[in-house]
Amino acid sequence: MALNQSIDLALAEQIGAAGLPGTALDAGLAAVRTATARLREDDETGRLPLLRMPGTTDDLAAIREAAARLRDATDVVFLGTGGSSLGGQTLAQLADYAVPGIGRFAEPRVHFLDNLDPLTYGALLDRLPLKTTRFVAISKSGGTGETLMQAIAALSALDEAGLRKRAGEAFLGLSEPRKPGVRNALRDLLEPEGVRFLEHHTGIGGRYSVLTNVGLLPAAVLGLDVAAVREGAAAAWEPLRSGDEAPAALGAALHVAFALEGKPIAVTMAYADRLERFTRWWVQLWAESLGKDGKGSQPVGAIGPVDQHSQLQLYLAGPRDKLFTVITTDAAGAGPAIDADLARRAGEPGFAGKRIGDLVAAQGRATADTLARNGRPTRRMHLDRLDERTLGELLMHFMLETILTGYALGVDPFDQPAVEEGKILAKRYLAGEG
Ligand code: PA5
Repeated sequence: MALNQSIDLALAEQIGAAGLPGTALDAGLAAVRTATARLREDDETGRLPLLRMPGTTDDLAAIREAAARLRDATDVVFLGTGGSSLGGQTLAQLADYAVPGIGRFAEPRVHFLDNLDPLTYGALLDRLPLKTTRFVAISKSGGTGETLMQAIAALSALDEAGLRKRAGEAFLGLSEPRKPGVRNALRDLLEPEGVRFLEHHTGIGGRYSVLTNVGLLPAAVLGLDVAAVREGAAAAWEPLRSGDEAPAALGAALHVAFALEGKPIAVTMAYADRLERFTRWWVQLWAESLGKDGKGSQPVGAIGPVDQHSQLQLYLAGPRDKLFTVITTDAAGAGPAIDADLARRAGEPGFAGKRIGDLVAAQGRATADTLARNGRPTRRMHLDRLDERTLGELLMHFMLETILTGYALGVDPFDQPAVEEGKILAKRYLAGEG
């Protein structure tokens, strides 16, 4: 196991009255024990196909094959929003996608258009070399307005460039198979152009789809080891499948206990640029899965050290309404070395001979300790290294933790009924009604 979790700094016995009393943790653990039994039953009955993904390998060849066809493009544009995008983005950061300050220079360049913005999308379509670009439209339902509009606009751009006849080659779709009596607008739009479709798993919803072709296709396009992502996920699931002492169960118990204590905010702060998309992925997973029936906590994503210069003041001295998770990696000893003479000239002799990663590692440790010293309950998580395997473990850990928390709080972690109202209203406004 490459993921180490410690909840000591969240407990009253370690950090005083602001921490979690033993009785509250016991209550959380009891609720999660029942939730775990339900999860195991989900596994045994096959009710929750997500649990089978870590051990699945028979679909990897198809994912790699589809990725190989996309890899000869200069640009691969992933259309899709929410859970149809964030998992892919999270994995893609291992290959430098959207890493602040550097981004990814190598071809194929990947673009995830998860947020619909007229200026951004218009500019992208203007700038893309359309002849050598591939579009991948991902939507489980096939009916998401943002994705449909983007796909239509891309088709029109191909048309204007005289390339419409190659739409079948320029596009790939990823959506559920057609169901009798149910419309799949994305298939209706693209199949007549000769576009090939990969099948979205029917039993795995968007925000839980990172281990399926939804997340693994972009990862494979970028040359990442997709089998290792699944192997890492197995490392998070296996202890839970076979015993109660699993890190995901303990994490869920912590969240349930703090929910019972009335803490409304959960902050996850990761000390790595390549975990920034992970924090966004987790925010969506947590919010959409648990925010129901007046329950759930507000997820906040942060990265370090930069958010030490932004949010940390509030975290340390603002309202005592948060549970913190600080994630660190193997930064120590990594990165550029610091010249001793220059360090002394800069008035920082302690920097001499150190590496950039040494400071980042020290900062991650110091932030967790400072939070605790200031009576802010903090869970620490450390990844031995950051690669496909450990990221797979981290992703599965948080999916399991979220499901268990939902079960224990008595909410359905798999639906999102409240967001439908706004979607219907927006379509009415677009049509000029109301
Ligand atoms: O996690 C979810 O279920 C949602 O965020 C969906 O992924 C998002 O709404 C997109 O849905 P679809 O994949 O059907 O286009």
